[in-house]
Amino acid sequence: MYDINEQTSRDHLLDANLEERTRQAFAKHLRQFVFGTTRGVAQQAFAQRVAPELARKDPAAARDRKRAREALLQVPEYQFFCDLHRISQEQIWNSTADSVERDADRLRAEFLALRNPKGSLQLNPELQIPEYLLAMDTHCMPGSYHTDWAENDLSNGALYERGSFLYTPSGGPANDGAGRASLDFLRTKLPDFVPRRMLDLGCATCSPLFPYARAFPETEIHAVDSGAPVLRYAHLHAEKEGIALHLRQADAAATGYEDGMFDLVTAHIMFHETESYAIPQILAEAYRVLAPGGVLLIVDLPNAGLIPDVFQQIVFDGDAYYNNEHFWMRMHDLDWAAELRKVGFPAESIEIGAAPMQMYIAPSAEHPEPRWNKGRFGFFAVMARKAAAGSAK
Ligand SMILES: C[S@@+](CC[C@H](N)C(=O)[O-])C[C@H]1O[C@@H](n2cnc3c(N)ncnc32)[C@H](O)[C@@H]1O
Repeated sequence: MYDINEQTSRDHLLDANLEERTRQAFAKHLRQFVFGTTRGVAQQAFAQRVAPELARKDPAAARDRKRAREALLQVPEYQFFCDLHRISQEQIWNSTADSVERDADRLRAEFLALRNPKGSLQLNPELQIPEYLLAMDTHCMPGSYHTDWAENDLSNGALYERGSFLYTPSGGPANDGAGRASLDFLRTKLPDFVPRRMLDLGCATCSPLFPYARAFPETEIHAVDSGAPVLRYAHLHAEKEGIALHLRQADAAATGYEDGMFDLVTAHIMFHETESYAIPQILAEAYRVLAPGGVLLIVDLPNAGLIPDVFQQIVFDGDAYYNNEHFWMRMHDLDWAAELRKVGFPAESIEIGAAPMQMYIAPSAEHPEPRWNKGRFGFFAVMARKAAAGSAK
């Protein structure tokens, strides 16, 4: 665990004062308590009472996460955990929103003062935000990724950047754990691969792209998201770091880029927030904009189908019920290989597995530099490659 002051506010653009940081630290620790101790108590109740009784009465139900959850719902320890899951998540946003509101004008002024950017920002006020993103505040974040509370607003970029830092246990102060994990996965699978041009889908504040920009300094990096405030925030952040990101407000299912423009298309933790009907559309778009031989890499939250522990699967599904993450649950059940084949990726190019999570270890007296370890858990990782030019598909 690390102190929240490690994400120094100015480094990450949002300026939180001492009182706000104290409340944010409380929210972070409350969430860790809920997902540590309280979850552990519910797990014990499942293992000692619920699972054995189910196994006796109906062994198939004991292995089925949806039916096992029905039984677990009757158990007070699990009810308590679920209540606290929701409350602790709301605390994250409540404690962060004050900093965001107080700092919004300064952020906007810095954004408007940017001159001679290395990258670019193309906003489209006419864009129809996908209705599944409008339907709710994703993971209880007020206003989600798209709401502008004022003109040229960056607030929800700041809110997401700080809030996700508070509730993601080991993504590191720069929120770039997912980017580090996907880059590590890519380099393990394709050590010599260097994209000339890459596109990231559902980029939000672009945290995963900073490791890519450092690893591939010659690569032209493009990214799309449907939300304007997250893109403004990403633009300001990238320019302050001297990194060229070309950002476009677009639907990932219709990006507007030319056919075959990219050697690499990535999506970091986007698909678990995407309604089922849109997934094939986005995969088809990724295939279209990939050059022959180009690589698609999807890195997302762990997939229940790849984790044998039924209680853990139930906990993942809990995000759909208590944290406005309705689509994550459906993502578990999708046949990714079939969807990728349907849009044109050759079957033999498709790989489905896990990208080990990179766990941030804060500096200490013994190790004054921050370190990263490969964790026990893996992100869900899907890789596919478009057939090379001239090869039979
Ligand atoms: C959980 S955030 C992930 C952000 C970023 N990739 C990261 O790893 O921090 C998911 C993002 O996907 C975006 N998104 C979801 N569906 C989209 C679509 N159809 N078109 C564009 N963006 C989309 C949302 O607006 C949101 O910013």
